[in-house]
Formats: sequence, structure tokens, C-alpha cells
Amino acid sequence: MKTVILYRSKHHGNTKKLVDAVVANFDNVDAIDVAALGKNEYPDLDEYPLVGIATGIYYGKIDDDLARVMEHIINEGQKIFGLITYGGSSKWYGKDIDGICRMKRAVFLACWGCAGFDTWGPYKFMGGMNKGRPNQDDIQACLEFYKKLLDDYGDILDEQYEQYKKRRAYQEAHPAGGLMSNIKRSAKKITGKSKKPAAQASRRESSSVDDADSKADSE
Ligand SMILES: Cc1cc2nc3c(=O)[nH]c(=O)nc-3n(C[C@H](O)[C@H](O)[C@H](O)COP(=O)(O)O)c2cc1C
Repeated sequence: MKTVILYRSKHHGNTKKLVDAVVANFDNVDAIDVAALGKNEYPDLDEYPLVGIATGIYYGKIDDDLARVMEHIINEGQKIFGLITYGGSSKWYGKDIDGICRMKRAVFLACWGCAGFDTWGPYKFMGGMNKGRPNQDDIQACLEFYKKLLDDYGDILDEQYEQYKKRRAYQEAHPAGGLMSNIKRSAKKITGKSKKPAAQASRRESSSVDDADSKADSE
């Protein structure tokens, strides 16, 4: 399963530990650090059926740049999972990723998270919270989460991705043409001018044959 993990890990590299572990332990996993992207650089994720979004939690949200990039590059129908680390104990942080997926009509499959070392604000004076996290157990649990995702969804995702690629190719070959052409097409349909001349001619022929037949019958 070709996977890309889009990530931002700006506090202590906690989230990056999870990303690195997934990349090191599974084939076909690429990672993109959002911090390394230019201001208006939006990589094309079209070749990836599965996209991971990995982030620390900052002021109760996922990273702003990651959210912006995600909004730009997630495709309709793409399958998304989340990996998060946080200083507090909330398990609801995946809601931001879910919200963007809904907006983009992508499918949010699942989210996994664990505590991460946190020296933000007052915690700095206490030597920080969650020292040593993510630890080996966290990383192992994260790898198991990803493996289960592949076991549960892998075949389905590959199959759906093939369908998605066919649909995209068809749409590109048959562009809708925008609002004006839609209006013109509807107008032609309503006024009956949308039939191809050949079809119209053959209809006229067959209707005149029908007329002739019915005339003959009545005589
Ligand atoms: C500026 C800032 C704000 C943070 N806000 C929150 C927060 O609202 N809730 C929380 O649980 N953790 C918060 N944290 C802690 C981080 O989410 C946590 O340390 C995380 O593991 C950082 O991941 P990273 O090292 O990959 O950046 C904050 C950390 C920073 C630096």
C-alpha cells in the first residue's frame, strides 16, 4: 500500500519519532515534513491511496501549516489516518483532521495518539511533562495501529484506488466545461436540439416509415 505521511513536529520531534518508526518498519511509506515546504508549495498526493496526517497538538489544534497544506492537497475520496502526540490527556484531537476530511470529501479512517514530552509554558519550570514519551511501548503500539489499518483496509483501499484513478482519467478526458456550457447543454435538452443530426435523421426516417405503415394499414 503506497502511503504518504504529511507531518509537522515542531516542539521536541515527538511526532516525528512515530513517523520515522512507520517509515522504517513498512515498505512504500513516504514522509513529507510540512516545515520543509515552500510557502506556496503543495505536493501532489494523487499517487497515494492512503495519507497519514501526523502532528503535535498546539493550543488545542493540529498545526496550522499542516492544516493549510492538508486543505490544499487532500483529494476527494482519499483515505486518511491520523497520528498525534499531545501534552494533555484528550483523545479528541483527531476532530480537526476529521473536519478537513469532511470539507474535502475525503474519508477519515482512524486516528492514533499518545502523550509526548511537553515543556510548553509553565511545564518548562517543572522539567516538562511526559518525559521520555513517546517511548518504545508507544512506538510499538503505533506500529501495530498502522499494521492493523493495512490488514483491515489494504485490499479494499487498493481496489477503490484503481476505481478512483479510472474515474479521474474519465473526468479529465471529458471535462464538464463550466457553468455556461452546462446551461447551454440544459437549454438544448429542453428545446430538443441536443440530438445528433444523424440520430435525428434516422428518427425522422423511421417515423416517416411508421407513418407510411399506419397509412397503409388504414387503407
Ligand atoms: C505552543 C505549544 C502549545 C501546546 N498546546 C497543547 C495543547 O493545547 N494541548 C496539549 O495536549 N498539548 C499541547 N502542547 C504539547 C504538545 O502537543 C506535545 O508536546 C507534543 O508531543 C508536541 O509534539 P512535537 O514534538 O511533535 O511538536 C503544546 C505544545 C506547544 C509547544
